[in-house]
Amino acid sequence: MFSTRFTELVGIEHPIVQGGMQWVGRAELASAVSNAGALGIITGLTQPTPEALAAEIARCQEMTDKPFGVNLTILPSINPPPYAEYRRAIIESGVKIVETAGANPADHMPEFKAAGIKVVHKCTSVRHALRAEKVGVDAVSIDGFECAGHPGEDDIPGLVLIPRAADQLTIPFIASGGFADGRGLAAALALGADGVNMGSRFMCTQEAPIHHNVKEAIVASSELDTELMFRPLRNTARVSSNEISRSVVEILNDGGVFEDVRELVAGVRGRKVYESGDVNAGVWTVGMVQGLINDIPTVAEAVESIVSEAKSVIIERLSRLIVA
Ligand SMILES: Cc1cc2nc3c(=O)[nH]c(=O)nc-3n(C[C@H](O)[C@H](O)[C@H](O)COP(=O)(O)O)c2cc1C
Repeated sequence: MFSTRFTELVGIEHPIVQGGMQWVGRAELASAVSNAGALGIITGLTQPTPEALAAEIARCQEMTDKPFGVNLTILPSINPPPYAEYRRAIIESGVKIVETAGANPADHMPEFKAAGIKVVHKCTSVRHALRAEKVGVDAVSIDGFECAGHPGEDDIPGLVLIPRAADQLTIPFIASGGFADGRGLAAALALGADGVNMGSRFMCTQEAPIHHNVKEAIVASSELDTELMFRPLRNTARVSSNEISRSVVEILNDGGVFEDVRELVAGVRGRKVYESGDVNAGVWTVGMVQGLINDIPTVAEAVESIVSEAKSVIIERLSRLIVA
């Protein structure tokens, strides 16, 4: 129904991508998204080892014969994961689409390109997007201030970021952050994007492999219920507002340092939220767009409703507003 430079590039039916999501982006979700005609993405670093990632990719290949991708989040770290080995696992598994995020993917490009992989780099500013274009990525996913996870430090919302990206980039790009319905998809296309990337919306679907309580909490929350954590450390993360995230914000605002919150923000605690359904057990990620999420559909229902609503916005609403 929609053909864009991005759908052509990665060989999908609908211009919709499920972005990488730590603990959430497993084979169940990625395959459901790809089977619905959009692009599902497995989160590489959710798997504890490169071997486990290869097994997860194989599991996803069993569940879909449609294209899907793998997210490789490149973050500065004292003990970085073995990125080269994760990259090798992706290449050897035959995956043809990679979503990179975090640092510039330059170091990974020669091997990905030699393997015929399309690289979609996710970033939060036009200058980073242009740098990624320069090092040869095939497409960009540009994350506005609204987004779940790491919005960067510029605080530019999609309404300005997307047309700025459209004006500056030559390669295809998709808009990310704040998208959950067909109005958003139509708006992103109108602003010059070739599709949308969504995290929170796909997290709140039947197939997302997380506890139902978390999905109910998203439905019950509004756009006001997120916190910008780690702002004073210039490593901002938008997360659900709960007892823990609010106390992390308070400690850091009062002059605390990372050591003071290390235990509160531990990854194992966040993982426990998704496994136990105790939404106050740790810090967990969600975006402002939860204010637009009112149900827990199947992935196929979500994709179908977004695409048909976008079509009706364009044909039935927008075109009829033109009177002369
Ligand atoms: C639970 C969750 C975990 C996420 N983890 C990652 C991650 O590990 N790597 C990454 O690049 N982006 C991550 N993201 C960001 C998403 O891929 C996407 O860019 C973002 O959700 C878009 O904003 P939206 O939630 O408003 O759609 C995560 C998002 C969520 C909701």
